[in-house]
Amino acid sequence: MLSVVPQFIQQNLNLTNMFFTSIIIVLATIYFVVLLFSHNPREPFSEELEYLTIDEKGKHVRKPLSNTSDEQKNKDILLSVVVPSYNETKRIGKMLEDAINYLNEHLPNKWEIIIVDDGSSDDTSNFCLKLSQEKFNLKPEQLKVIKFIQNRGKGGAVKQGLLHVEGTYALFADADGASQFASVSKLINEMEKIEKIEKHTRTNLSEKPAVVIGSRAHMVSTDAVVKRSFIRNLLMYGFHGFVYVFGVKSIRDTQCGFKLFNRVAINEIIPFMHTEGWIFDVEILMLAMKKKIPIIEVPITWHEVDGSKMALARDSINMAKDLIVIRLAYLFGIYKDKNVI
Ligand SMILES: *[C@@H]1O[C@H](CO)[C@@H](O)[C@H](O)[C@H]1NC(C)=O
Ligand SMILES: *[C@@H]1O[C@H](CO)[C@@H](O)[C@H](O)[C@H]1NC(C)=O
Ligand SMILES: *[C@@H]1O[C@H](CO)[C@@H](O)[C@H](O)[C@H]1NC(C)=O
Repeated sequence: MLSVVPQFIQQNLNLTNMFFTSIIIVLATIYFVVLLFSHNPREPFSEELEYLTIDEKGKHVRKPLSNTSDEQKNKDILLSVVVPSYNETKRIGKMLEDAINYLNEHLPNKWEIIIVDDGSSDDTSNFCLKLSQEKFNLKPEQLKVIKFIQNRGKGGAVKQGLLHVEGTYALFADADGASQFASVSKLINEMEKIEKIEKHTRTNLSEKPAVVIGSRAHMVSTDAVVKRSFIRNLLMYGFHGFVYVFGVKSIRDTQCGFKLFNRVAINEIIPFMHTEGWIFDVEILMLAMKKKIPIIEVPITWHEVDGSKMALARDSINMAKDLIVIRLAYLFGIYKDKNVI
């Protein structure tokens, strides 16, 4: 009779032990799977720390890139436009035309465009340099090309571009020209508003990091989205749900390829980015939130452009995988927001 109670407790202890042991095994397994899939961006090759432009004599020249982390050298440059490009000869001409027309009219001589050619095999680099000279008649340094020796992915291209801008602000803009370039004025206005608010509390305007992002959330019920194929809309809603659970909750459109940063925001976010694939936008926003950097969403004009480089099925699966990896890697401390990558 007496031995019954201890035996009962003993059994219970064994069960509890087993329970915790299994939890530890499961967590350790998840940890190693996340470690396995976590991203370690490659170092840039030395050629990728230089840019190509066309000098006064019409010759291609190579120069070292400046660093966004250094003090701004040319304070005249208000806006740097970073355009990640992979095999874009068919689409980028139109995008550049819109951008350059706008910039020449509204910000004359206060801009630069940085094309990051992500290892294209269709010679996107030379195509852009040629356009800058023959079609747009640009001055040296107005259009710079960073040419990757080896493909990295869109996130890697955006990162390398943003780390080396001259401008007070930097916009990354997709090469397809889907976002109407003139919308950049709305983004800059918002940015200046945030900085002015801060002006009352701090001495230096640009000390306050801020991110202003284009948003297509207002278009979800318009024809542009409703008339898309069932499968694309299904994927879109599935993706939004996924981002809501694993990524960021307060941003309605994380994926719009039209995002503006000031220099402080770049320095506080971009060096810490791991993700080189399509889901990199979410990591940028997650880092901004961890660091309490304000993110303002601004509705922009947008239209669908054919020729997307995304393979719908394969890339959707990769994005979902990467998103879970990002979330868990930060949770487990595999990714840290204090270590420069
Ligand atoms: C940018 O930073 C790198 C590494 O710190 C340095 O080697 C390079 O000279 C810098 N570039 C310029 C133009 O100062
Ligand atoms: C890029 O362009 C090259 C040459 O036109 C082509 O061979 C290659 O398959 C393209 N890659 C992709 C992913 O579209
Ligand atoms: C503001 O910026 C100037 C030069 O950029 C610097 O000398 C000064 O120390 C800064 N002020 C504060 C409060 O950080």
